[in-house]
Amino acid sequence: MWHSGLVTEAVLLVGGQGTRLRPLTINTPKPMLPVAGVPFTVHQITRARDAGVTRIILGTSYRAEVFREFVDGNDLGVEIVIATEDEPLGTGGAIRHALPYLTSGPDEPVLVFNGDILSGLDIAGLVRHHTETNSDVSLYLTAVDDPRAYGLVPTDAEGRVVSFREKPQTPEEIVTDQINAGCYVFRRSIIDSIPSGRPVSVERETFPGLLDQGAVVSGVVDNGYWLDLGTPLSFVRGSCDLVLGLAPSPAVAAIGESLVLEGAVIADDAYLGSGTTVGAGAVIGSESVVEGAVVFDGAVVGSAVRITNSIIGVGARIGAGCVIDGAVIGDGAVIGADNELLTGARVWPGAVLGDTAVRFSSDRG
Ligand code: GDD
Ligand code: MG
Repeated sequence: MWHSGLVTEAVLLVGGQGTRLRPLTINTPKPMLPVAGVPFTVHQITRARDAGVTRIILGTSYRAEVFREFVDGNDLGVEIVIATEDEPLGTGGAIRHALPYLTSGPDEPVLVFNGDILSGLDIAGLVRHHTETNSDVSLYLTAVDDPRAYGLVPTDAEGRVVSFREKPQTPEEIVTDQINAGCYVFRRSIIDSIPSGRPVSVERETFPGLLDQGAVVSGVVDNGYWLDLGTPLSFVRGSCDLVLGLAPSPAVAAIGESLVLEGAVIADDAYLGSGTTVGAGAVIGSESVVEGAVVFDGAVVGSAVRITNSIIGVGARIGAGCVIDGAVIGDGAVIGADNELLTGARVWPGAVLGDTAVRFSSDRG
């Protein structure tokens, strides 16, 4: 079957519950969490737009009103349609649920992507490969050091997918370091064949089923920038990489060592670097150093504070002389002066810590 080679429609999956960030700092769904100054979803939408997509179906299973508000308030140069599931239908179920909203013909390619992935994928290249190989589904793959948290996707010499194992449990199952990077091109008629009205996992049911039936499932390995933003520290990493220009996105206002949003006040002798974002109206005090961090809107950082690889939540206050590394400070938390919060420390939203309340010790000092 022939298809045009152009992709004009995409389904963006933004509905899962798997957000470990939300309880700590964030009151909004993760796809709307600002990253490098705009909701994370905007980076994905504008990248798809630049690859030729003109219409995006946002597949969500919760808080549709937040997405509605976002769509009404933004013109990103693409038509955005919200498809809300009454109950979460899983990844495959959400793709099937988007079908009535698609206008593509049965043989035309439809782009599908997970809503929590930051990547430098050549989207148009993936679509071109899909068309040239006349595939039913094409998967974007990448190699990672530890593939256990992902879908393992071994391919043969021709790039055909051999099997799909979601989150392997045993060492024997780890047959490759090549994983599903969370972006696909589907022949539209394949979406028609996903059962409707019940939860379906595209990873555990649809892909293995297609392979059993002998469908043409292709893998395209792209070892450019790729990051799953599922944990607080990968969120910080992704945010900094966007600011530094390492993760390509048309939606970053200005590439540089740091991004300072409207109304933020930075002391003349403070230093911001390694891709730090300082949110709207936030304050960074004298002689403070903030590197590789995200300081959300309205947070107030005192003087001589050192913050690295951390998230400071909306409106949180950090007292003078604190050292914060690899930590997440929840929205509105108050940290007194001279505290040390290191790797893995999580301060709940609104919690209050007195002056000199916590330090970390190696038991040697
Ligand atoms: N609409 C909707 N409804 N979206 C959903 C649902 C649902 O019921 N369940 C999950 N999603 C969305 C999530 O919001 C996310 O954007 C995407 O589907 C993938 O779900 P996750 O829950 O983040 O899956 P994962 O990270 O454990 O694994 C997936 O991503 C890996 C790459 O990061 C799988 O696709 C793996 O195979 C893959 O390697
Ligand atoms: Mg994920």
